[in-house]
Amino acid sequence: MTSFKQRHEAYINQIEAALDKYLESRPPHGLYEAMRYSVFAGGKRIRPVLMLSVCEALGGKAEDAMAFACALEMLHTASLIHDDMPEIDNDELRRGLPTCHKKFGQSRALLAGDALMNLAYEIITSRIAEEPKYAKIGALMSKWGGSEGMLAGQYTDVVSEGKKIDEETLLYIHNNKTGGFIKAAMAVGAMVATNSEDIIKRAESVGEAIGLAFQIKDDILDITQTSDVLGKPAGSDEKNEKATYVSFYGLEGAKEKYGELCEKIRRDISSFDGDNKFISEYVEMLINRNK
Ligand code: IPE
Ligand code: IPE
Ligand code: MG
Ligand code: MG
Ligand code: MG
Repeated sequence: MTSFKQRHEAYINQIEAALDKYLESRPPHGLYEAMRYSVFAGGKRIRPVLMLSVCEALGGKAEDAMAFACALEMLHTASLIHDDMPEIDNDELRRGLPTCHKKFGQSRALLAGDALMNLAYEIITSRIAEEPKYAKIGALMSKWGGSEGMLAGQYTDVVSEGKKIDEETLLYIHNNKTGGFIKAAMAVGAMVATNSEDIIKRAESVGEAIGLAFQIKDDILDITQTSDVLGKPAGSDEKNEKATYVSFYGLEGAKEKYGELCEKIRRDISSFDGDNKFISEYVEMLINRNK
């Protein structure tokens, strides 16, 4: 029997190999160099692992979801390249390396982020051209990556800096800037595997909760962990006067909210259809992560 660790490693290897292929360097090589630098800087690959494992848990084939998993990782990496730029969070370290703009300059970083987003949508639409039944996935991924998703969250995050915001706005920021992609990972994994609206809805709803928990933990780690372990600058949120769960509820309050949400996630995952063993362990690993 394959252990959790073996299965996790197998997913990571498949994802890395597929990303490598999609991002094979071509002219203009300087642009691909910057795109590849950030994609292969050593991210945890949480979103694609979630997508592939949900797909398999529900009886689908991981290879059928691979294009969407890689596209999602590219959208996520693009969001990080732009998030780190001086105009947004102004950070110099990402995935343990200098941020894309520190390494290549702002123009190249800006364009590398744009190019990764476009490549992601090219991959998604090409997959849909092969299998038109996936059209709805393309529409949802575009929505959750765009001005009704990640960009809406990032926009509201930036305009809320240094301001007193209400709980609803804080939730809106987190659900959109981070929750959208994690929800997408779970929902798309389910959509590739099944046509059942009920199962897809449930995957989406657990994904939303995991996404929120993920950003709350990110807020907590920002003030409790070192930059060395995080691979990104600790204390970035305080520096930018960000609206976070920690600035809103205090560290203890944020931890309490996190604990409550994690209990709900554990319950929802255990009632998840299909073979949920890997997902349960994986989500437990995410809940307990220290970076
Ligand atoms: C970081 O995401 C940004 C947030 C949404 C909190 P990850 O913690 O998944 O970053 P990588 O991909 O592993 O670098
Ligand atoms: C960023 O949130 C989420 C996105 C990039 C969409 P953060 O700004 O908290 O992420 P980190 O801490 O820089 O990874
Ligand atoms: Mg940010
Ligand atoms: Mg940031
Ligand atoms: Mg953060």
